[in-house]
Formats: sequence, structure tokens, C-alpha cells
Amino acid sequence: MNTHGIKPVRKAVFPVAGLGTRFLPATKAIPKEMLPIIDRPLIQYAVDEAREAGIEQLIFITGRGKAAIVEHFDTAYELEATMAGRGKTLEVLEPTRIQPGNLVTVRQQVPMGLGHAIWCARAIIGNEPFAIFLPDELMIGAPGAGCMKQMVEAYNRVGGNLISVLEVPREEVSSYGVIAPGAALDGFGGLVSEVTGLIEKPTVEAAPSNLIISGRYILQPEVMRVLEGQEKGAGGEIQLTDAMARMIGTQPFHAVTFEGRRFDCGSKLGFVEATLALALEHPEMAADVRAMAQRLLGA
Ligand code: G1P
Repeated sequence: MNTHGIKPVRKAVFPVAGLGTRFLPATKAIPKEMLPIIDRPLIQYAVDEAREAGIEQLIFITGRGKAAIVEHFDTAYELEATMAGRGKTLEVLEPTRIQPGNLVTVRQQVPMGLGHAIWCARAIIGNEPFAIFLPDELMIGAPGAGCMKQMVEAYNRVGGNLISVLEVPREEVSSYGVIAPGAALDGFGGLVSEVTGLIEKPTVEAAPSNLIISGRYILQPEVMRVLEGQEKGAGGEIQLTDAMARMIGTQPFHAVTFEGRRFDCGSKLGFVEATLALALEHPEMAADVRAMAQRLLGA
């Protein structure tokens, strides 16, 4: 508990059981979360963001064919011994090291939706608040100010439940969960506001705003009990958004506007954009990539 009586966020759930059909055939034998942006797999960016926010325990909701994700965060004796033998530094592997006991996997035996995936972690979450990361959504903040860090800072002041949101063009809302925003909270520079309603994948006409849920959440453990009895929603799936919507009014719900950039790496175009954007600011590659892009564009 902090001085406001708020329990810290120490656990994060990463739903990674999705099939990744949009990237086939690349994802036939490799989890989509292992596709690299430059030299880090997508899942690594989400894990780095979690750790930057002070989160200790990582809970992966996995399925068949996802073993590579767990391997990635394990010690690789042969590799490390070989590298050490060649006098190479192992520093590059640092982000893949997890304290023993801090990586937990749960299998989601059947793909029944995001709400169901989160519910699979209920026994490990217990009675604590927890974060959720949808790794497809790549959130890049200023150094030391990632999306979850910004959310945890807000959470430590207001408690309850928080969802990161961002604006999209109105015609795109039907691909997302959409919030009905309420009053902005004082003292947050307009970045934190109440959430008065939530709808998963509404029609453009039915959408209460163009503010979408962008794949980062801090939720109270009561959501697990709500998910327990959750009926199927949009797409015939058990939707996290529907369970959260039912909690509004019983618990505080706030939206946090992320100050940073977001790339939708669940789509090929978003993935290419992220690769290009990060390459253009990569300390060792930026100048070469810029020259390369100009050459390719004939500029
Ligand atoms: C999920 C959530 C949705 C959210 C989106 C962000 O949808 O259900 O509320 O806006 O992620 O990417 P999915 O992309 O799994 O259809």
C-alpha cells in the first residue's frame, strides 16, 4: 500500500495465445510475438515497458506453438558459454533475463477471446491489481516514460482501473474497444479522464467517441469475478471490454492518454511503419537508413 492506500501493480498479464493469421506464412512455426522489430522481438518491447514501470511478475497466456516466447526469456547455456568462450559480452542478452519465479505461463486451451485469456490468469493474480499488455500494440514513449510507466504514475494517485486510450479517425473505431469519456481529472494536464462507458467494436454510428482502448490496462482483481460469468460479445468472443463495462459504477475507471507514439504491429503496414520509424532513430543505423530510404525513394 502507498500513502493513498493503493496497492502497487506488481503483476502483468500478456495474452500471447493468438494465431497470428495476418502474418502467415511467417507465423506458421513462429509466434507472431517473436517477429523482430530491428533486433528485438515484439514481446521484448512489451516486457521492457512492464519492467520500466516496476512490474516484477510476468504472466504469459500462451497456447500451442508458443514455446519460443518462453525460450526467449530463459537462460541459453550453450549460447552463453560459446559467446563467453569467444570473449563476447553477454550484455545484449540482459533484457531476456527474468528473476527465477517471475515468469509464469498459463495455457489458454481454447481461443475464446481476450476476456477468457485474462480470466485464465485468475489464480495467479489472486487479490492484487494487475496490468495487461497486448504486445501487438507497440507503445514508444520518451526514454524512461513508457506507456505503462505513465499509467502506473497516474494509478498511484487515483487507484482503481485505468485504460490507455488514443484517438483514431472515426471510420476506424469498429476495429477496437471505444470509450465514452467523462470529465477530465484536475491535476493531470488533461491526460486523465473518467470513463463512463465502453463498447467493443461498435459501428461508426454507435461509437460514443473516437477514443480507442490501445492495449494497456491496469485493473482490479474483481474483474476476474465479472469475467467468470461473462457472456460472449463481439465476434462471438468473451470480451474484456464487456466485463470492464459492467464494472463501471462499482469501481473508479479512468482513461489515460499516452504521451508517445503507438504502432499497430498486428497489421503488416503498422509493423513496417514501426520498423522504419525505429530504424530511422536507431543510434547505430539512423544515418545509413535515412540514406537508404532516400535512395529507394529516388529523392
Ligand atoms: C483488442 C481489444 C480492444 C482493443 C484492441 C487494441 O481487440 O478487445 O478493445 O481496442 O485490442 O488493439 P483485438 O485487436 O484483439 O480485436
